[in-house]
Amino acid sequence: MRHSIQKYFHYYDVAELEQLRALYGDGELGERPQLASVYSAIRHRSLPERYPEVISQGTIFCEAYHKAIVQSMGCALLAKSWLRPLAEHIGGRPCLEVMAGTGALAWALGEYGVPVLPTDNYSLRNTFARRWVKVRRMDALRAVKKYGRDVDFVILSWPFISPLPGQILTWLREHNPRCRMIYLGEWRGGCNVSDDFCDLAREDPAAAELVARLRKEYQSWYDLKDTIYILQ
Ligand SMILES: C[S@@+](CC[C@H](N)C(=O)[O-])C[C@H]1O[C@@H](n2cnc3c(N)ncnc32)[C@H](O)[C@@H]1O
Repeated sequence: MRHSIQKYFHYYDVAELEQLRALYGDGELGERPQLASVYSAIRHRSLPERYPEVISQGTIFCEAYHKAIVQSMGCALLAKSWLRPLAEHIGGRPCLEVMAGTGALAWALGEYGVPVLPTDNYSLRNTFARRWVKVRRMDALRAVKKYGRDVDFVILSWPFISPLPGQILTWLREHNPRCRMIYLGEWRGGCNVSDDFCDLAREDPAAAELVARLRKEYQSWYDLKDTIYILQ
């Protein structure tokens, strides 16, 4: 596993941002004001069209704002440039989100009229500073068994490596084979899913064109290789 969760959560705390500013000014690439402005917008639930390119640089400010933005929004960099076409594709079809964290992704899709039921077991409640919408407290597999027959998409963003993603996909294939999994995260060898899951999952060929378009827009933090998948 390239990243350990320990490394991931070692990143700087929000309270340290001002200290960093005193020490490093605007940063070696002048990135601090750009990141501060994105962070401030996110705190006001205003998602950017795209993130400034400095987001993927490994500077001290990127690390610091990475932690702050994860706490405020979540792990995936939600941007309108890919949320809009994804929402257009989903339309009014019902979605279940499991392991939803802050619920920001469900909120963002909801802004485009997509009906998403966000669920999470709150095991990581201390990581997230707030929720963007009401997130139903429920174990992921239980939620899938309860609602999975009635939805067209199950959304899974940034899970921890565990058998759960594979169990969810297997259950859907058996009980609702037309349902697709929208997965955001790293792939084989990354920090979100096991190799077993990568062996099991198949990308939906009918969504290939859309996914290629979404991936052109989707941005990652430094040293991460997360992107978007539509799986069956
Ligand atoms: C790394 S966070 C990702 C959160 C969010 N999807 C995102 O992209 O920011 C993983 C989330 O999974 C939740 N979680 C972990 N195990 C779970 C389980 N068995 N059932 C439901 N939620 C779970 C945690 O509470 C946490 O919110």
